[in-house]
Amino acid sequence: MGIAIIGAGITKFGELWDKNWEDLVIESSKEASENANIDLTEIDSCYVGNMNLSRFEGQDHVAPRINEILGIKKVVRSEAACASSSVALKLAFNELELSSIKKENKIILVVGFEKMTDRITQNVTEILASASHYDTEVINGATFPGLYALLASRYLYETDANENDLHAVAIKNHKNAVLNEKAMFRKEINLEDFKIDVATPLKLLDCSPISDGSASLILTTEEYAKQLDVEYVKLECVEIATNTISLAKRNDLLVLDSAKRASEEAYKKAKIRPEDIDVIELHDCFTIAEILNLEACGFAKRGEGYKIVRTLEPYDEINKKDAPIPYIINGKKLFVNTSGGLKAKGHPVGATGAAQIVEIVNQLLGRCGKRNVNCKIGAALNIGGTGGSAAFSVLRRPW
Ligand code: COA
Repeated sequence: MGIAIIGAGITKFGELWDKNWEDLVIESSKEASENANIDLTEIDSCYVGNMNLSRFEGQDHVAPRINEILGIKKVVRSEAACASSSVALKLAFNELELSSIKKENKIILVVGFEKMTDRITQNVTEILASASHYDTEVINGATFPGLYALLASRYLYETDANENDLHAVAIKNHKNAVLNEKAMFRKEINLEDFKIDVATPLKLLDCSPISDGSASLILTTEEYAKQLDVEYVKLECVEIATNTISLAKRNDLLVLDSAKRASEEAYKKAKIRPEDIDVIELHDCFTIAEILNLEACGFAKRGEGYKIVRTLEPYDEINKKDAPIPYIINGKKLFVNTSGGLKAKGHPVGATGAAQIVEIVNQLLGRCGKRNVNCKIGAALNIGGTGGSAAFSVLRRPW
């Protein structure tokens, strides 16, 4: 018997000026509890993922604020930059594994959120940069667009990839987001739209946006999910790995080693191979990240992820389709970021890990409407910073 996700809820992602972060947490948590058919008062504990409410809103000590708004008596906050809510998911998984040994029927809420758009871009960029190495990177003016631009430059130098391979990732993810009513940018884009430079070689449309949003999950043991008689998805594992925070300390800039180790451990635990995965939400904070993560997670060899991107249909064909666009690997379809990914669905950093799992749960349960893909095994890779933290989760349809 394993761990079950019985509820998944998500707010719209975007510039949500008419809502505060508490409204967002309440909205996604209510949606998750409604589709789990339980009341929020039945929840035993809550793990909340948030990167930086203290600098976005001046509020530290997030857990008791969650107690105040949701009435849950045991709340723990986790922080791992953009991977904050995946770490919350791991903590929930651990508590449930222990509780199942003791034959307790616990119900746990995982919620991730961030409210970023109430500040000007320069200020947000500084706050986000605190997830890189302060003494060597931040102090010298590094920003995340700048750090990922370094990785992209190195990739283009070492391989035969070109800037259009980066852009193709964004074109695909924007197309997918058109089919997702919760996504921030429901707008198709084309190669001609990549005009504005952010950090060479990354253009504006190679970057994920600054967003607000919240995502929630309700977990219990598989045994109890069956007793409750609710639809559920099996969460096989959540594997966490870390790497050096600074790029300068890495042996190989092009290997996101934490993602590699987390995914390898997850494949072992779930007894699967990368080729068994039908659908994955793969961290794409910048287009180069999706390519590097395809490699780190074993879908391509080092330096060859761009070849997978080239299996996409021609640019001008992608936007004619009314369904998610797959990569083709050894003749098999792999759907990556059917939600639109961080790039187009949006990236409210603390919410992103939980939001990725919401998408995979909804895909496995066939709740994604036009963006439903035929799938039995799904996964999510969420990374923090430039890969200082990583979490890889495997989910499975139980029938
Ligand atoms: N993708 C697509 N469109 C975007 C966008 C993005 N990433 N960011 C902004 N836009 C659009 C806006 O909707 C707006 O469109 P409009 O003129 O039609 O209304 C236009 O571009 C200008 O928006 P603005 O908010 O002024 O952009 P900005 O210059 O302040 O910010 C970035 C753009 C790329 C610098 C900002 O989105 C950013 O910093 N992204 C990276 C966030 C990050 O580092 N996250 C952590 C990752 S580890």
